[in-house]
Amino acid sequence: MSKCSTELGLTIPDPRQQAFCKACIYGVLRNYFSLSEDLSALIKKPLRRKDADIHMLILSGLFQAKFMQTPPHALVSENVEAARFLKKEWACKLINAVLRRYLKENQVDALDSKTHFDFNHPPWLAALIRQDWPDDWESILAANNAHPPLTLRVNPQRLTRTEYLETLIERNIEAVRTHHSPDGVIIKYPTPIESLPGFHEGHFSVQDEAAQLARLVLNIDKSGSILDACAAPGGKTTHLLEHLNEENSLLAVDCDQDRMKRLTNNLARLGMSCKTLIADATELNAIPEKDYKFIVLDGPCSATGVIRRHPDIRFHRQKTDIAKLATKQLELLQTLWYLLADNGKLLYITCSILRAENDNVIEGFLEANSDARTDMKNFPWGFKTKHGRQTLPGASNMDGFYFSLIKKRNKCHGQLAK
Ligand SMILES: C[S@@+](CC[C@H](N)C(=O)[O-])C[C@H]1O[C@@H](n2cnc3c(N)ncnc32)[C@H](O)[C@@H]1O
Repeated sequence: MSKCSTELGLTIPDPRQQAFCKACIYGVLRNYFSLSEDLSALIKKPLRRKDADIHMLILSGLFQAKFMQTPPHALVSENVEAARFLKKEWACKLINAVLRRYLKENQVDALDSKTHFDFNHPPWLAALIRQDWPDDWESILAANNAHPPLTLRVNPQRLTRTEYLETLIERNIEAVRTHHSPDGVIIKYPTPIESLPGFHEGHFSVQDEAAQLARLVLNIDKSGSILDACAAPGGKTTHLLEHLNEENSLLAVDCDQDRMKRLTNNLARLGMSCKTLIADATELNAIPEKDYKFIVLDGPCSATGVIRRHPDIRFHRQKTDIAKLATKQLELLQTLWYLLADNGKLLYITCSILRAENDNVIEGFLEANSDARTDMKNFPWGFKTKHGRQTLPGASNMDGFYFSLIKKRNKCHGQLAK
């Protein structure tokens, strides 16, 4: 690691060192609360706010001691060296003492104890997950702290899943088919995406298996217009496009210009196109045309179902965000409902595992709209909920997603069309 440490702040040329640094950063984020607890047991008084860099450096050392195979001598000397690089000579002695003491006392068995800090979630979030999933909360929190699989979605416009798996075998890359999505492949060992065969040629996209289930739930007819209302960066848009035919048309809308650029780049890489529009989907007049046969609303949410992929979410999210997000989700639903044709279907999706953003939003929506009813099939994956279906993080190796398909009653006939 010496090269990596001495060049801190500059580029890190060796990919293995880069991977090591990334593992430390993600590891500290995933285990922040328990590592901080370990640290406070090792020092007499907390570090000052202005020494947050030293705090994080020691956490990184503790993470390496607890979870990685870093040799003890290298672990201590490299972290001491990093403090010197930060021009905090005074901290060298402290880091040396703390890490040596930790290694000596070898508190590794703390890993197994289910203390509060071992869950590594803010208390409000752990409590909310426990309340919503009383039988599953511990496995959810554990999954949030684990490494997610690298899951791909094969582009059938380029090749079949079997053909892609054969290409991987030829390159000695171990991979298996996803269980529930007919389009997915799981790469067994972490591999840089761009080094996988066919990335630049658009042979696949990176997408968790749960997100791939959206296509199966929506089950689009071979004709009809589709509005993807919160589309960027285009994971679901491109998946739908891969399976549409010429009778279908798709408009992809998002309010975020930068994310829309990513959508456009993804379309280009995969060799496909559709109409795109930067607009706020809560503004009815911002979206051209009406009477869409299918609408996808994969809107803003707490992302509590994908914490294993984005461990920093637990730090960014506040308890007060949840109610605000639910209000926004209901507002989006209500606006988009006016754009749906009679007998049309709207698929509501979140990557949240909180009822407040899922069943509760749909419940409020159904109460306010007598021409709406849910229309979910009995799928073999996830959990059935009152108004939809939920996958939980880690279960069947998938992320946590919620789906609710809502059908619009044909007002002229005053009854629900089959
Ligand atoms: C969960 S992400 C969508 C992911 C996307 N469907 C995919 O599969 O790649 C939510 C998106 O909603 C967009 N968004 C949030 N509020 C919006 C609004 N009022 N109108 C349109 N888009 C909105 C965000 O910019 C963000 O790109």
